[in-house]
Amino acid sequence: MTQIQHAHGTRASDSAEPAPWWRQAVVYQIYPRSFADADGDGLGDIAGITSRADYLSALGVDAVWLSPFYPSALADGGYDVADHRDVDPRLGTLDDFDTMLAALHARGIKVVVDIVPNHCSDQHVWFQEALRAGRGSPERERFVFREGTGPGGEHPPTDWLSAFGGPAWHRVADGQWYLHHFAPEQPDLNWDHPDWREDFVRTLRFWSDRGVDGFRVDVAHMLTKDLTEPLPSQAELDAMPKDGLHRTIDRDDVHDVYAQWREVFNSYDPPRTAVAEAWVSSDRIPLYASETSLGQAFNFDLLIADFDAEQFRRVVTHNLELAGRTRSSSTWVLSNHDVVRHATRYGLPAPERRPDGEPAVKHGMEWLRSGGTDPRLDRDLGGRRARAATLFMLGLPGSSYLYQGEELGLHEVADISDGERQDPSFFRSGGEDVGRDGCRVPLPWSREGVALGFGEASPHLPQPSWMADHAVEQQSGVPGSTLELYRRALARRREWQCDEDLEWLPTGREDVLHYRRPNGWEVVTVFGDADHAVSRPVALLSSDDAVGSRVVPPQTTAWIAPSRTD
Ligand code: GLC
Repeated sequence: MTQIQHAHGTRASDSAEPAPWWRQAVVYQIYPRSFADADGDGLGDIAGITSRADYLSALGVDAVWLSPFYPSALADGGYDVADHRDVDPRLGTLDDFDTMLAALHARGIKVVVDIVPNHCSDQHVWFQEALRAGRGSPERERFVFREGTGPGGEHPPTDWLSAFGGPAWHRVADGQWYLHHFAPEQPDLNWDHPDWREDFVRTLRFWSDRGVDGFRVDVAHMLTKDLTEPLPSQAELDAMPKDGLHRTIDRDDVHDVYAQWREVFNSYDPPRTAVAEAWVSSDRIPLYASETSLGQAFNFDLLIADFDAEQFRRVVTHNLELAGRTRSSSTWVLSNHDVVRHATRYGLPAPERRPDGEPAVKHGMEWLRSGGTDPRLDRDLGGRRARAATLFMLGLPGSSYLYQGEELGLHEVADISDGERQDPSFFRSGGEDVGRDGCRVPLPWSREGVALGFGEASPHLPQPSWMADHAVEQQSGVPGSTLELYRRALARRREWQCDEDLEWLPTGREDVLHYRRPNGWEVVTVFGDADHAVSRPVALLSSDDAVGSRVVPPQTTAWIAPSRTD
């Protein structure tokens, strides 16, 4: 055998201790308002999750991550949190939360909750107090208030732009302006203020004491800011090196916050876990993934890659190397609540790339803008490639994040009318960015019914009729369905799990990747259009139910059983 390359993560067997659960977990992301609606108000809820605990268990996931379920005015789908230590009354109560936690724990499923520390809701009691208390008050110190510029201060303090479009400053009644990197209903917190530091420690303890196993930390790279005057312009901000001393992004001092959180996490047995959502350059990811910081960080490289062998291989090798720089494991993501679903991305022409490799426009955006007509979506090809990419991902060392509905082969929903849209990025960009509602449409559980089994009322986002074909009821027990493929793959993965190493094997083809795990579990993906022969019989195929063959069809991933068990 020639050209074997090794990419080592930290080996679980480096110590005598069993590897912590999170290192190689399959984590299923639930967007609670769109998962299951138990009380029939059109909005998913906590009791809905409890009612589907058996579904999650049969799927075979190790953990769920819940997007925010806290009280919220829903200016940003719940990422505008009005109270970090309660449940949105429309979604249930803290008792409902405890019941859900117990139901999932009883089935061996861990629970990770979303923590949103860069901003809160403008309905948060501290922000309301700040508005009332007026300029110069200690209450305003908890946020970033500044005087405007120009005559009467009528222009914002700077020309900074918010992530959802439009200015990053909003003017209040008395004439001052406050900073919001996202929607105006999401004021940024002043992390120099000790009150937030104490308050978030309280929040982490609040959920940890209830038994929550870990936290997903929203925009983890943006909390701390150097806001000494004079403030730079947007152009100056854009030109600043992102080396840890940037004024607003990925500052080294954010890790002082996480060092304090780490003490909290480690004061529990087992220690609570955290995963950073940090959109930073990959050489800065290990800072977030280090043992003294959050411990693990998302890597979105697979998510922004095309369905392409060379890109996938580069992403895997690079990220295993990065994970190896810390004692963390890598994470893998193909879909989440912020991006066009991967079945749809792969059914559209590959996007143009910027020099740094990122898509020139958000992938799928033009298609969404056209209402799903232009360019043409090849649903079958997208679905086939998506299953292949998922099986490729699930074989990798590290933890894999699945997004609700991908196990049903769901496509993005494009036909949502302007009047039904909810995402602030749609409103703030004047429709230029259609937003993320298309991946947040409530799940189809059954073929019939007003909400396809999601609940008894019409759902908060419309479900197109094609969703019925993807319903859980339609796929359950049906050989060859995407749902059954996920179930089988997760069961095998659990059986075959082993040390966090991977070795690339030569394939003789540029469009085929082949890797082997330490126990002999092999994964072969054909990205192109021709069959590929393998020497050992195939145990699982992403494109059909045939096992035992030695041929991997086009756009397909094959799993070959381990030759030995660890
Ligand atoms: C994160 C979330 C996204 C949210 C934003 C602001 O990127 O994933 O959904 O809009 O933060 O909280």
